[in-house]
Amino acid sequence: MTGAARRDERVLVIRGSAGRVATKRAPSPAAEAFAGMALSVALITGVRLGVFTRLAEGPAEAQELASGLGLDTRSTALLADSLHALGYLTRPADAYALSGVARRWLDPGASRPVAACVAGNVEHWDWWAALPEIIRTGTGLDVHSGRAETDTFWQDYIGGQYDLARLSAPAVSRAIRLPAGARRLLDVGGGHGWFAAELCRRHDGLQATVLDLPGSAEVGRRIIAETGMDHLVRHRSGDARSTSLEADHYDAALCFNLIHPLPPDDIRALLSNVNRSLRPGGRIAVLNLFARPRRRRPDQFSACLSLFFHMTSATIYTVGQLDEWLREAGFRQSRRMTLRRVPGQTLVVATKRA
Ligand SMILES: C[S@@+](CC[C@H](N)C(=O)[O-])C[C@H]1O[C@@H](n2cnc3c(N)ncnc32)[C@H](O)[C@@H]1O
Repeated sequence: MTGAARRDERVLVIRGSAGRVATKRAPSPAAEAFAGMALSVALITGVRLGVFTRLAEGPAEAQELASGLGLDTRSTALLADSLHALGYLTRPADAYALSGVARRWLDPGASRPVAACVAGNVEHWDWWAALPEIIRTGTGLDVHSGRAETDTFWQDYIGGQYDLARLSAPAVSRAIRLPAGARRLLDVGGGHGWFAAELCRRHDGLQATVLDLPGSAEVGRRIIAETGMDHLVRHRSGDARSTSLEADHYDAALCFNLIHPLPPDDIRALLSNVNRSLRPGGRIAVLNLFARPRRRRPDQFSACLSLFFHMTSATIYTVGQLDEWLREAGFRQSRRMTLRRVPGQTLVVATKRA
């Protein structure tokens, strides 16, 4: 291949490895527009229909796979072939089996699977379809409000966040130093409650309250009950900006991945509310994605994430803005940490002024 041809070749990054979808001979824009959606939906469909769960029990031919899952055989074979092409399945003889990457991330028996996170992307199809209008008007979607507590959105959303939290919770909880003898923790917008659970596991005598919107709190309650941590972590339904919290009550508070969908005035209200609920000397830990200096050419994943944030009306704030809001709310001494195991995010810890 000539240097010119190589430069012209386009790649689509799927699960961190570069899967070539087009070469100079096949027009790359047409191939990427077509294949990007098809590859994503094949993976989401495979997870949602239970293909990976079934194959985790052992290899199966298309007919056996389809009949066990109540699916059409020819369609299942085509789906399995796509997943094979994507590298998620292998094909020993006539059967399909999980590849190494599927065993690690999509097998329900894996130590920290991300299948719920993959499945939750099904919600995004309609959102992405609204992108042209969002780019035209600059107005993003409000994805939280107006949903019934029973909407399947909450299960997809919080189930996915739980998968991601299990990957990072050990490193995050090791990085947070709680005040000596801490007994009460507030996890604001804690959803699944897993960060709080991990901290309670590490600190004898610590118990947590997770404050979240009703739909998220309901899913979180179920997750915590299933993991047997409900004697240490309880959920409370409410909006963190306005729910009245007991004053001077908590030793520490978490505020993870919560501020980006909120406008600055709401963040101020939320941080003041949390500040009032902490004892003097109590600590707040904020974990979030923050703005970084713009790169001339962002990597594909960061660019997709920025677009997704914009589409869902979220803002990527700077750490400096957060420092200012923390100070206004009555905190001092904020400390920033980036954790190797939590790529792209920054942990900020601050103490309530006496
Ligand atoms: C991206 S999830 C993060 C969940 C968890 N903290 C984590 O880091 O994995 C954002 C959470 O904030 C909750 N949330 C959004 N607005 C909220 C508000 N006004 N009051 C309380 N919780 C809120 C959502 O319901 C959701 O559970």
